[in-house]
Amino acid sequence: MSKPYQPPLAPKNLPISDPWALFGGISPKRFMQDYWQKKPLLIRGAIPAFSMASQNGGPTLASPISYVELIQLASQEEVESRLIQSQPWRFEHGPFQKKAIPSLKKSSWTLLLQGMEAHHPAAANILSWFRFIPDARLDDLMISIAGVGGGVGPHFDSYDVFLIQMAGRRQWRISEQKDLSLNQKLPLKILQNFQCKQEWVLEPGDMLYLPPHVAHDGVALDAGCQTWSVGFRSPSFKELLQEGLWRLAESLENIPELEQKFADPKQTATTNAEQLPAELIKQLSTQLQKLKLHQIDAFLPGVTAYLSEPKQQAFFDGPSKPLNPNAFLKKLSQKHLKPSPQTRILSLGKTVYCNGEDVTRDQAPKVIAAWNTLSANKLFKASVMSDIQGSSLYEAYLAGWLIFEQ
Ligand code: SIN
Ligand code: CO
Repeated sequence: MSKPYQPPLAPKNLPISDPWALFGGISPKRFMQDYWQKKPLLIRGAIPAFSMASQNGGPTLASPISYVELIQLASQEEVESRLIQSQPWRFEHGPFQKKAIPSLKKSSWTLLLQGMEAHHPAAANILSWFRFIPDARLDDLMISIAGVGGGVGPHFDSYDVFLIQMAGRRQWRISEQKDLSLNQKLPLKILQNFQCKQEWVLEPGDMLYLPPHVAHDGVALDAGCQTWSVGFRSPSFKELLQEGLWRLAESLENIPELEQKFADPKQTATTNAEQLPAELIKQLSTQLQKLKLHQIDAFLPGVTAYLSEPKQQAFFDGPSKPLNPNAFLKKLSQKHLKPSPQTRILSLGKTVYCNGEDVTRDQAPKVIAAWNTLSANKLFKASVMSDIQGSSLYEAYLAGWLIFEQ
């Protein structure tokens, strides 16, 4: 007998100085100070509900999502899925028909499902536990389900990851080795020279934190083994600078003075006609200085907008029967408005970016305040609001970026 574990939503104000079972009795503050980006941490009984259920002699806890549900999710276009089989190594991208996925009785396969927070409330709730880490760093929650012996092979990630064991046992072997060269002959990123330094068998409710570039190999010991990975991205400076510069270039559209054309009444007759004129260089340099492009403040809006872009496969569906502005306001006084699970919201001071757009630009103060609450708390309710028509809040509701709580 077993029943699905139902992970609770974390409280709005996380007690980041208190000891948490999730980190083996240390606080998130301590975790960040001593382990984050520094060294691995194994936590036995990170989710105490699992061991408590088995000690009490009642039903044991199963993963919140069953094999059947995961297979169903892997058949959907909007779910990013991969099937990896070892012996020999094979790799395929989803969506997968049910029959393409091996049964639980088969060995040496694993199915990986990315972005699960958008598809199951249990996964979204688990992410809420990690909101002591900036939202800009969060990537997603990936679920793996495997037959005995299944795994993705020894590899390293450029991400920080919390590997939560949700069903069955998985053996983890890790190494902080310097040699991260890959086996070029394989279709997957597998280390050619993995030398295990530590190994553990994780049971349901255990968790392993790995900083980037720690080599690791997880092998399923039981059929239906599930590992839930909470992953944190760290973009390269190249990516941040390129994306920030693109958006900065686009924002020049909003400066009408720049339409003015270059003029050179002072140009003299030249014997070096092939050279870029000194007069053009001088005037352009003045324009560049006026834009203060070297100052970080000019650059951050574009970077924040970029980091608030939803995942590539995110899909937004507006409400099938949209409320008119008055009905929307009435509902807003009764129910919480919250971001759709695929929506990303980030703040830069009081400016809020939602799914790549500055949603606070040219908005009424109450709308700006609403977005700030949504960004901080991921929930918003209001008793008095007006002038909602045409506001970015109402538009985001119509676009399916914001939804009402049931
Ligand atoms: C897995 O869950 O099987 C793979 C996770 C990882 O090693 O990154
Ligand atoms: Co990994």
